[in-house]
Amino acid sequence: MDKNVSFHYDSELQTTAHFFNKYVEETLGFQLIKHSKPDRNSITFQYDETIENEEGYEILVDTSQIIIKAKTEKGAFYAFQTFRQLLPATVETNSVHLRNLYIKDAPRFTYRGMHLDVSRHLFSVAFIKKYIDLMAMLKMNTFHWHLTDDQGWRIEIKKYPELQNIAAYRDETLIGHYNDTPQQFDGKKYGGFYTQEEIKEIVQYASERHVTVIPEIEMPGHSQAAIAAYPNLGCTGTTVKVATKWGVFEDIYCPKEETFTFLEDVLDEVMPLFPAKYIHIGGDEAPKTRWKACEHCQELIKKEDLKDEHGLQSYFITRMEKYINSKGKQIIGWDEILEGGLAPNATVMSWRGTNGAVEAAKAGHNVIMTPTSHAYFDYYQSDNEDEPLAIGGYLPLEKVYYFDPIPKELSTEEATHVLGAQGNVWTEYITTPEQVEYMAFPRAIAMAEVNWSNPRQRDYQDFTYRLSHFHKRLDTLNVNYANHLYEIEGNVVTRNNQLVFDLQTIIRDKTIRFTTDGSSPNLQSEKYTPYLPIEGSTVLKAAVFDNKQKLGRDFELIFNKHAAVGATISLEPKPHKAYAGSGSKGLVNGVSGSNTRFGDKEWLGFWGKDVTITIEFDKPTKISSVSTRFYNANGQWIYAPKEIGISYINEEDGRTLHQVNQVTTADTTLVPHTFQIEEITTKHIEIFIPNYGTIQDGLQGAGNKAWTFLDEIIVK
Ligand code: ACM
Ligand code: ZN
Repeated sequence: MDKNVSFHYDSELQTTAHFFNKYVEETLGFQLIKHSKPDRNSITFQYDETIENEEGYEILVDTSQIIIKAKTEKGAFYAFQTFRQLLPATVETNSVHLRNLYIKDAPRFTYRGMHLDVSRHLFSVAFIKKYIDLMAMLKMNTFHWHLTDDQGWRIEIKKYPELQNIAAYRDETLIGHYNDTPQQFDGKKYGGFYTQEEIKEIVQYASERHVTVIPEIEMPGHSQAAIAAYPNLGCTGTTVKVATKWGVFEDIYCPKEETFTFLEDVLDEVMPLFPAKYIHIGGDEAPKTRWKACEHCQELIKKEDLKDEHGLQSYFITRMEKYINSKGKQIIGWDEILEGGLAPNATVMSWRGTNGAVEAAKAGHNVIMTPTSHAYFDYYQSDNEDEPLAIGGYLPLEKVYYFDPIPKELSTEEATHVLGAQGNVWTEYITTPEQVEYMAFPRAIAMAEVNWSNPRQRDYQDFTYRLSHFHKRLDTLNVNYANHLYEIEGNVVTRNNQLVFDLQTIIRDKTIRFTTDGSSPNLQSEKYTPYLPIEGSTVLKAAVFDNKQKLGRDFELIFNKHAAVGATISLEPKPHKAYAGSGSKGLVNGVSGSNTRFGDKEWLGFWGKDVTITIEFDKPTKISSVSTRFYNANGQWIYAPKEIGISYINEEDGRTLHQVNQVTTADTTLVPHTFQIEEITTKHIEIFIPNYGTIQDGLQGAGNKAWTFLDEIIVK
């Protein structure tokens, strides 16, 4: 393909054809000249009515021509995106060679979304455009713009100037993690908003890329910023501040006429800015504390013959839905809008797992899948200790890639209500555009594939191989993606009665090199081949290399040989399934857990239960100490036990000995504990760990049982 090829397009596809030609000019340095009819060496955008899917397309490349067929500009646009990916990541000459090929392609789902929260942190118009460009490159077609929340109102509403003067700014912002004690604040005013002109510009920009923008105006909860500006919108009428930290707040809209007038006025300004069919009205996390104590709310419940405050939430949403429907639009709400009865025409966005989606789809409502388990890109994507601070959780790339948006509980008929899936980027802990990119990429690429391709074609190995090449495109586009492809997964396992290190990496055509002397591995270090026998306590360091350089980061596994390594261990009860680590064996594999994360495979978590651990040695073993560590992160409901007991049978006289120790907990995340034992010989140790008990009032998780987390049990 060079400047001598002739260019043709049918008028039905002319917008995309021009877009394409502009791209050719930007990358190859020349414009294609339009000829009246195709001849040799031509590129043609051909309108084809017979293509079934609105967004489908075909591409044919042979020795003399390139033909792109579509029924709509959308289909042609996606053909163009695929075409881009056929070109080299960086084009340095003014001619490129394409392979002969034929592609026939169409998406699986019609809703292919990415979300961005601009309330917790604000991002420039230029960055929003870049985000939209990246979405369009991935054939995503919906941008869910989270514009209002407790920490800031971000859309200009001319009728209510205090939204701009007050609701758009907070006095300061929490720094560090919410769970840090004490919480700390930066003391700096923060905020801003998008003017209606800027919004129009973004919506137009998105529309040229076939991306629909859905605005979210939260109600009745997550509205403290608006109530700060107009205190009468709340139940108490007292002044609150725009929130300066994260979480769920009790000051929510009071369902009085004044509030409905305000929200209708707001929507009257919002709706004309967004040609999309949908308006997202939030609906999530609305505590009912104020409504329970509010005379007006209680009277309304009686007057409308509602069951309770959930009924009142349903009344609120249904009333707003009616208003929005009357303007020819439909609502989307988070799955809490199911509580107390679903508004008749609502689409449900399922985030607290998939039960909400199942219930709504069975009731004949459309659903969009964004479960925290597979779609929350604000969660950690790696358990490396040096990941940037995030809200918590763990959602690695592979898990996103294998997400199936259709819940198993749905019949084929019910499954037609699943419109598609969306990656969510909440920004409490994401302060810069670079960090948005880091959290969103590459997980958004996996989500794009989830939404587009046939699940039978899903192959993570193949995906990561393609992704490793796609990195070059992301580099060219200046995207700060996270790269965890060249990381090593390491375990201590038993092969033929011998303890060995087992190292794995997802990219198969690369080499692992390692050291055992504590130094960082380099190109001269020994090559790893499965498996590496373990001789004794070892600091193993390894990394992935190609033949020129180290590709990833150093992996480190500290193996600490002690008397219980490889002993038989049993647990009563089993750990909670969300925190089962590598199972009971992980407590005696010679490897301790992370010092800063309890979600790795060495930590085991038990919820609200007393735990008994039994260790059996196959021959009498001399012991003088037994130690372990407890995790202590009270903000996440995790508490070290108050005491711990041990018993063991002295082989020499057959007597059972017991010892109970108080565990001294300080304000530290790690609480180590050691039993000193008068040197004896034993084949049997039992450790008893009573649960901490119920969490006190006034603390995170109050009234719930605490979690117990422990890692390696070291016997010397
Ligand atoms: C949500 O994450 N609160 C929808
Ligand atoms: Zn009220």
